[in-house]
Amino acid sequence: MVPKGKFVRPAEPNELVPKDYFSEIQLGDYFATDAPLEIDLGCGDGKFTFEMAEHHPDRNFLAVERLLGRVRKVCRGAEKRRLDNVRVLRLESLYTLEWLLPESCVDRLHLLCPDPWPKAKHHRRRLFQKPFLDALVRVLKPGGELLFKTDHDEYFEWSEEHLTEYSGLERLEWPDDAFFYPKTDFQIQWEAEGKRLQGLRARKPGS
Ligand SMILES: C[S@@+](CC[C@H](N)C(=O)[O-])C[C@H]1O[C@@H](n2cnc3c(N)ncnc32)[C@H](O)[C@@H]1O
Repeated sequence: MVPKGKFVRPAEPNELVPKDYFSEIQLGDYFATDAPLEIDLGCGDGKFTFEMAEHHPDRNFLAVERLLGRVRKVCRGAEKRRLDNVRVLRLESLYTLEWLLPESCVDRLHLLCPDPWPKAKHHRRRLFQKPFLDALVRVLKPGGELLFKTDHDEYFEWSEEHLTEYSGLERLEWPDDAFFYPKTDFQIQWEAEGKRLQGLRARKPGS
């Protein structure tokens, strides 16, 4: 409840503003259709979300981002492109998976070019570790997938090791031509600098 007279930031078009940040959301309250759900975690400027949502109008996309400027850009971009299947959530990634999304609701989660936190003293800030994997398995449907890409070789090895040690997900092959998969803004920027990206694909066991 907002006290009378207090300033409230107006929601952007296509922004998902949870009615309660302390309870699981009901996806049906925010998406027009009960379609398969894909998450773009740390969506940046939203290029990947836009291209995916245009390519798959029969799926819903939730773009999660903590920076307000980027959230605004993605919201307005989705509106301009008339992407009714896109919602944007301004929130921290792990919190979203741990506390906001209902259990077994996600078909695919894309984690693309997350911050690699290269210094050893910052490795504990990396998303790709057990609390993230536990939260991910909670929200994925049986058979749901994680798709992860990074340009940072050491972070990629770290993630492979964490995945190998983790029993709740099984690794899948990810050949380049497996399915439609647009490049992200950061991927384009890094490839232009001659960096190569590595990808990791895994699924939650089940149907
Ligand atoms: C390196 S950029 C990659 C953006 C996009 N995925 C791409 O590949 O172009 C990482 C993005 O994740 C966002 N981010 C980083 N940590 C986050 C967190 N804990 N919760 C939500 N967003 C986060 C950053 O603000 C940034 O937009």
